Amino acid sequence: TIVPVILSGGTGTRLWPVSTSEAPKQFQPLIGDGDMFRQTLARVVDRTRFAPPLVVCGPAHVVHVEADLAASGVADAAIIVEPAARNTAPAIALAALARDPAALILVMPADHLMTDVAAFLRAVDTARAPVEAGALATFGIAPAHPETGYGYIAAGEAVATGVHRVRRFVEKPARDKAEAMLAEGGHYWNAGIFLMRADRFLDELERQQPAIARACAAAMAASRSDGHLIHPDPQAFLASPSQSIDYAVMEGAEQLVVVPVDPGWSDVGGWAALYDLADKDEDGNVRMGHVVALDAHGNYLRADGGKRLAVVGVSDLIVVTLGDDVLIIPKDRAQEVKAIVEYLAANP
Ligand code: GDD
Ligand code: MG
Repeated sequence: TIVPVILSGGTGTRLWPVSTSEAPKQFQPLIGDGDMFRQTLARVVDRTRFAPPLVVCGPAHVVHVEADLAASGVADAAIIVEPAARNTAPAIALAALARDPAALILVMPADHLMTDVAAFLRAVDTARAPVEAGALATFGIAPAHPETGYGYIAAGEAVATGVHRVRRFVEKPARDKAEAMLAEGGHYWNAGIFLMRADRFLDELERQQPAIARACAAAMAASRSDGHLIHPDPQAFLASPSQSIDYAVMEGAEQLVVVPVDPGWSDVGGWAALYDLADKDEDGNVRMGHVVALDAHGNYLRADGGKRLAVVGVSDLIVVTLGDDVLIIPKDRAQEVKAIVEYLAANP
């Protein structure tokens, strides 16, 4: 079977005020049924295909993970509690070390949306045989625009039905490079989902990033279990360099393959992305909660609790209330929410 590894360490600051470092976006109802952590869990509930999941998160988020596991009726998951965030390469290494070295691990971000889960599961099936034979599999999304926040995968010849050799993996290219790859064709966005044999991943890590491999092996060798919680040794883990799997392993990996897939994927990267994904009224407004919109067009309007949010004559705005916080920002500048979070951290 396949061991699902759910990465839940991100802080999702581009969806402030709803997503905060204490309760990041994967634990917030934003779109779809329940929060995105629960939607991720639901993709791997079938125990004939998947072993119990391993969740990797920081100590502050264990309470949210446990609540979501309970609400989803998943009683067999284990949680690896990272003493500190060291990005995805070390997080995945801890999970790879926690189970049988020959196990296949399916690494999934906890904060992505997928509308066609059946297509995703078919792609996982397609990747299975090459991965058992030692390949590291990525999942490729047809690129829609020259986004610079993603990894790009240049597909080579087919090695099996629906599986291509990867010619090149480029993490977060500069704008001109992204445009060139889009124009050239044959490139995919990396969905951030990986299927690989645990031992093959660890071999690649050892070869390319021995310091990460060493720190994680030491942290797991001295780990402590407490029910379903696994605590890697803090001192050993803190010695690990902080790096993402994309830079640390994928850019230089041998036997890298890509399975092109269209699972209705989005990483819900900010309020503008949420606006695009959500249902709109006849004026193109997304309305959540008690909202009054007069002569208003193309807005994302979200009022929490008992608040009434009223707008007149405005277009293409994001207006979000939560507790004591109100966010108002033009939709096309929604990425700048990050600057607010930074400002508030420096000026509490
Ligand atoms: N447990 C744990 N610990 N999880 C982490 C950590 C960590 O230190 N850092 C990040 N994560 C989780 C995030 O919560 C997210 O679910 C996932 O790992 C990916 O991390 P991001 O920080 O969101 O990566 P990214 O968006 O910059 O880039 C990745 O995803 C893109 C697609 O959304 C890369 O894989 C890109 O190549 C890819 O295109
Ligand atoms: Mg991301």
